[in-house]
Amino acid sequence: MSSTDKTTALSTPTWPFRLAPNPGATPLANYGARQSAVLDAAGLAEARACISAWPGYAPTPLVKLPGLAAALNIGRLFYKQEGARFGLRSFKPLGGAYAVQRCLMREVAARLGVEAVDPQEILARRHAQIVANITVTAATDGNHGRSVAWGARMFGCRCVIYINEAVTPAREEAIAAFGAEVRRHPGSFDDAVRQAFETARREGWHVIPDTSDGNIVVAPRDVTQGYAVMAAEAIEQLPGGKPPTHMFLQAGVGGMAAACCAEFWRRFGADRPTTVIVEPEQAACWFASLAAGRPIAIAGDLDSFMGGLACGEPSPLAWEILQPGAHAAMTLVDAAAEAIMRLLAEGCQGDAPLVAGESGVAGLAGLIAVARDGAARRLLTLAPESEAIVFGSEGATDEAMYRRVVGRSWQEVAA
Ligand SMILES: Cc1ncc(COP(=O)(O)O)c(C=O)c1O
Repeated sequence: MSSTDKTTALSTPTWPFRLAPNPGATPLANYGARQSAVLDAAGLAEARACISAWPGYAPTPLVKLPGLAAALNIGRLFYKQEGARFGLRSFKPLGGAYAVQRCLMREVAARLGVEAVDPQEILARRHAQIVANITVTAATDGNHGRSVAWGARMFGCRCVIYINEAVTPAREEAIAAFGAEVRRHPGSFDDAVRQAFETARREGWHVIPDTSDGNIVVAPRDVTQGYAVMAAEAIEQLPGGKPPTHMFLQAGVGGMAAACCAEFWRRFGADRPTTVIVEPEQAACWFASLAAGRPIAIAGDLDSFMGGLACGEPSPLAWEILQPGAHAAMTLVDAAAEAIMRLLAEGCQGDAPLVAGESGVAGLAGLIAVARDGAARRLLTLAPESEAIVFGSEGATDEAMYRRVVGRSWQEVAA
């Protein structure tokens, strides 16, 4: 499809995209046992209790964009602004740092020979000597590693982060700034993931993956439950707690999308929003997998401007949620993300300017592409009275990249 139909008043250039319904979707099904094993009320409550005790915690704003909603010919548009999260400028600390805390709770309990250790004890560094001898590791395209490194510093353990060759020096420096050792590995994100696992096995370290390999599920589940705090906040911030009709979620391995889909499904059942997974065209593993009805690994050069979404393999844990839970999937070209970063920096028709990074705008870019295409609107029943939510999952996490794309620094845009 191509967003050429003049159903909206937006002047931003249009771009090609692919959109397909998910043949495995079960829109009327209840949130079931398979889903509860990934996220349930108890898991979310524990994540919220831990995360809200961290220094600097505050719910991020749910911003209303009435100008853009009008330009898109929809009723309301909500944008969860994760650029403000813990000063790390992305939603990621909710997952990676939370999984570090949970990992330390388990490991300290094992070393002390006790059944459980309270999260507060880890936060207050009551077992500092034991924790200092624990190493956590992760592979990252930037944001997840920053989050794990930040968590490791907060709790006082050692941290080694693997990055692949496409990760920018600015992102590398941001991780190292939290005291982590950063190791650059040739190949793709998925190659870096394999390297982190191999080294951890050899050295007795703890991997904090944001994806599961089908066997390792504990840490990725912690990550997902941490991410779900973002969705839970958003639900509380929605006027009247009423679910929007549409939700567009960007996906890399699918952890963020799964957390959001799960929490809206858990809370609203069949009244949950029509949920669309959005990916870069060249790394569309969810698009291919949902069409095939089974997880598929994408080969080739996955490199995308939307670096956080440049993943070739869906997380099996996220599959439990998104395979039945997502209503549709779509792909976007990189130019779409650039255009939407600029659009948000300008503010559309009186909306306040927003600082948004390249992976963070993909869900919104997906909504905009659909809203401007008659056939796509019909397919997703997007109408003038529809209400959409998107998660602006990062701010200017790479300042140089932001300035290059937008033409101004993020500070100038935010001022
Ligand atoms: C800003 C941002 N948004 C979204 C995602 C996608 O998250 P996931 O890999 O859990 O699908 C990432 C992943 O790194 C990211 O950095």
